[in-house]
Amino acid sequence: MKELRTQVAIVGAGPAGLLLGHMLHLQGIESVILEHRSREYVEKRVRAGVIEFGIANLLEEVGAGERLRREGLVHRGIELRYDHSAHRIPLSELADGKIYTVYGQQEVVKDLIALRVAQGAPLHFDTEVTAIEDVNTTAPYIDARCGDEDLRVHADFVAGCDGSFGASHRAIPSDVFRRYERVYPFSWLGILAEAPPATEELIYGRHENGFVLYSMRSPTISRLYLGVRPDETLDQWSDEQIWDELAERLSTDERPEVNRGPILERGITAMRSVVIEPMRYGRLFLAGDAAHIVPPTGAKGMNLALGDVRVLAEALDTYYVKNDEALLDAYSATCLERVWRAEEFSNYMTQMLHPNYEDEFENGVQRARLRQATQSREAATVLSRNYVDLNTM
Ligand code: FAD
Ligand code: PHB
Repeated sequence: MKELRTQVAIVGAGPAGLLLGHMLHLQGIESVILEHRSREYVEKRVRAGVIEFGIANLLEEVGAGERLRREGLVHRGIELRYDHSAHRIPLSELADGKIYTVYGQQEVVKDLIALRVAQGAPLHFDTEVTAIEDVNTTAPYIDARCGDEDLRVHADFVAGCDGSFGASHRAIPSDVFRRYERVYPFSWLGILAEAPPATEELIYGRHENGFVLYSMRSPTISRLYLGVRPDETLDQWSDEQIWDELAERLSTDERPEVNRGPILERGITAMRSVVIEPMRYGRLFLAGDAAHIVPPTGAKGMNLALGDVRVLAEALDTYYVKNDEALLDAYSATCLERVWRAEEFSNYMTQMLHPNYEDEFENGVQRARLRQATQSREAATVLSRNYVDLNTM
């Protein structure tokens, strides 16, 4: 067995693990990142696209925002469509001039991997963490497997950044561990298409047939989603059926519908809200999707993950520089306050925009919420502030 020693062992090279490794490097703290998948796989995984104002600033401050500033699309509003009409929410106007940026999660991941590789800092792909041990001592270690080789990493701290299917939370004993969950009765069918977006701003729509979202990645690439029933599968949808359904759900009396083009990627994602408490046990710290999941309707998952890392990197810095554990002790409570705000907002957006196929009372409430969000300046202001900058406020 190969053995390594570091200060912080990081499980997972998604946005959370990679940003944490990078920020620790800037602070002169050593880390080893272990990632189950290959570099190619994590760089190609198509997921989030919306980066909050404060999170984009954070990436820039740590030297990881250069391409984001150059290639990211700056946005100042979103459109809400319901009952066949379109309503713009002027987010920036209502949120102190703040903008948000559309830039693919896999581009953030590529930028952070390139920095890590250039620094020569340890990043092991194709390496699955199989156990995290002794987290309630000052000498935790993790075991991993890379091909035929076993690896043990001894560390001062372990950061569990291994996403929603990760295992690091299992190191928290059952009498301490709590998990809160809500499963929604729908999924998202998402496509990435080679087609210039027919809209400048993101469109979130509620149609009798279901939810719809028009987003993009560049002036030539569109990203669109349809709310579908949870038991639906990709093979039930031909490309043409997907485009027809998108066009129908996006149609209004005045607006263009969609620009069609070759579909480059498609996938179905189930919708869940999950919170794990506490986010820290002994020397184990959970960050990102390893600790919480939000339905994507609020565009919060990656932002929330990077928001956790900001708190954790500062707490570890304070520990190593001043031998002061106060921020580490406060980590879970500090993060959870923001996590529950993001859960609330994601739940609000989700419940407002996904029609309920059975419950007409619920549908009436949803329409009332949409009218309030688009007609009341106060309601639109709350929505705007939450959408544009929830995680660094
Ligand atoms: P992940 O990105 O999941 O990374 C975890 C990593 O850990 C993975 O690379 C995994 O391979 C690795 N791993 C797991 N187990 C092990 C193990 N045992 N050993 C070693 N490595 C392991 N968020 C937004 O902010 N805005 C959006 O617009 C948005 N849209 C979304 C749309 C969709 C369709 C989906 C599915 C998600 C969306 N999200 C969005 C959510 C966002 O993608 C996630 O919240 C984000 O990926 C969380 O980052 P993470 O680093 O915590 O976890
Ligand atoms: C995306 O562009 O992938 C995206 C945008 C907004 C969301 C979710 C996903 O709420």
